[in-house]
This record gives sequence, structure tokens and C-alpha cells, in this order.
Amino acid sequence: MVVFFSGTGNSEYCARYIARSIGDNVIDSAQYIRNKQIAQLESQKPWVFVTPTYAWQIPKVFKSFVRQSSLSGNKNAYFVLTCGGSVGGAASGALSLCKEKGLRFKGLKGIVMPENLITMFKAPESDEAERIIEKAVPEIEKAAQVIKSGKAFEKQKYSFLSFLQSDLSNPLFYKAAVSAKKFYATDECIGCGICAQKCVMGNITMQDGKPRWDNNCTQCMACIAYCPKQAIEYGKATKGKTRYRCKELE
Ligand SMILES: Cc1cc2nc3c(=O)[nH]c(=O)nc-3n(C[C@H](O)[C@H](O)[C@H](O)COP(=O)(O)O)c2cc1C
Ligand code: SF4
Ligand code: SF4
Repeated sequence: MVVFFSGTGNSEYCARYIARSIGDNVIDSAQYIRNKQIAQLESQKPWVFVTPTYAWQIPKVFKSFVRQSSLSGNKNAYFVLTCGGSVGGAASGALSLCKEKGLRFKGLKGIVMPENLITMFKAPESDEAERIIEKAVPEIEKAAQVIKSGKAFEKQKYSFLSFLQSDLSNPLFYKAAVSAKKFYATDECIGCGICAQKCVMGNITMQDGKPRWDNNCTQCMACIAYCPKQAIEYGKATKGKTRYRCKELE
């Protein structure tokens, strides 16, 4: 079973691609996370967890989802992390998670997809994003073939840089940057509620026709990326920047 978490669609794209290629089912973890439900899942085929990279780790919210879920059947677990550039030492976190869950770790593969963290960086324009996805597709296919074969992904090196990124910087990133405090809707907002529907955390409610952000944000970028009016800003950091969301798998 392919289980994914995705804010702006990159990981969903990879998950659906892999599921199609290996002939397996796909499940969106957001349906459980949003409703604070514990998932009871059963799979005869290996588990394939597909998720973005957040500060060189599996996002905390997805780790908690996997930790809390009941996963019966097959014991093998593959991890596919989409990223803007590097997954750092995320494999060590995935290995620990497998140990906790009694799963057999079959490796972690990073897939470079368009950057979506526009509260800090820039997202690519659409033609550049298209090129990045075109380059990623053969890598996604390779991952699917390895999963199909039952072999493990190539082992990732855990370097001193991985330690600095995934073990030192990750907690600092969560402390300093993961919050909804700076989100607001401008006068362009038409009250459509798409931002609230898209929020993977259920962190947005509509009040008097405008979105209101609570304090359970994981910075997935869905609200700001899917607003049809580009009416969401994050302080001054996102002013004038391209909003990115992945195309759907054809
Ligand atoms: C909160 C946050 C943290 C991120 N941290 C990293 C990172 O450490 N390394 C990286 O290469 N990309 C990082 N990115 C970029 C995303 O991992 C990348 O764009 C991913 O494909 C987005 O997936 P999604 O569209 O499924 O949400 C980060 C993005 C967000 C929103
Ligand atoms: S998606 Fe944009 S336009 Fe729609 S309610 Fe949210 S902020 Fe307003
Ligand atoms: S508030 Fe926006 S950035 Fe935060 S979790 Fe919800 S959709 Fe993602």
C-alpha cells in the first residue's frame, strides 16, 4: 500500500505514479490527520510511505501518523521523500520509525521535485517546474521498479553534514519557522474556503467569510499555494512570489 502526505502535490504525484507502476492502492494520510483519526490499515504488499522532506527529515506530522497507525500484513517499508534539493540524513529517522513499528526498513529514496517553501525560498516558474518534474519521472520509475523487485533502495550515506541538517537544524527549524502566525488573507479574498478545505491539518476555519488560522500548522504551503486569488501572504516573505502547486498525474 502506498501511503502519502502532501501539501502542494509533489508527493501525491510520486505516490500515484508509484502506485500505478507497481499496481497497488494509494491512501492519502490527510484524511486521517485532518480528522484526528487513527488509521487501521492492512496491506499484503510492502508499505510505501511517500512524503515531502521538512528540514531534512520526514515531517513530524507524518511520523506521528505512521507511529499511531495500525499497520498489519506486510512488514517491509520503503520511504520515498520528495525534496527541493536534499533529504539530508532523513533515512536514519525512517530507520528508527521502522524499529518502533516492527517494520523492516527497505531504504529511503529522495526525489528532487520543485521547491514549495515560499515562506523562505522561491518556487520555480511553471516552465522550470515542468523541467524538474520531467527529470524526476525516471527516478520515480526507478524507485517503483526497485519496490516491485523486492530489493532495498541504495543505502544513503550519513555524513557530518547530515547530522548538522537532520539532527541539529531540524528542531531549530520547527521552533523558529513552523507556525501560522504570519498568515493572513488580503482584500483579494473572495471567501471561497478552498484554503480551509486544502489544509492538511484542519487548521483553517472560515469566519465571516474569511479564513482564520489556528496554531496547528505544519507549514505545508497548501493554503497559500491553492488560493485561487493569491490572496494569502505570510508576513512580507511571500509578496510577489510565484505560488507553486504540482500538476496532476496524467
Ligand atoms: C516546511 C518545509 C520544509 C522543507 N524542507 C526541505 C528540506 O529540508 N530539504 C529540501 O530539499 N526541501 C525541503 N522542502 C521542500 C519540499 O520538501 C519539496 O518541495 C516537496 O516536494 C514538497 O512536497 P509536497 O508538494 O508533496 O508538499 C521543504 C518544504 C517545506 C514546506
Ligand atoms: S482560498 Fe483564498 S480566496 Fe478562498 S477563502 Fe482562502 S484566502 Fe480567501
Ligand atoms: S495553515 Fe496552511 S501551511 Fe499551515 S498546515 Fe494548513 S494549509 Fe498548511
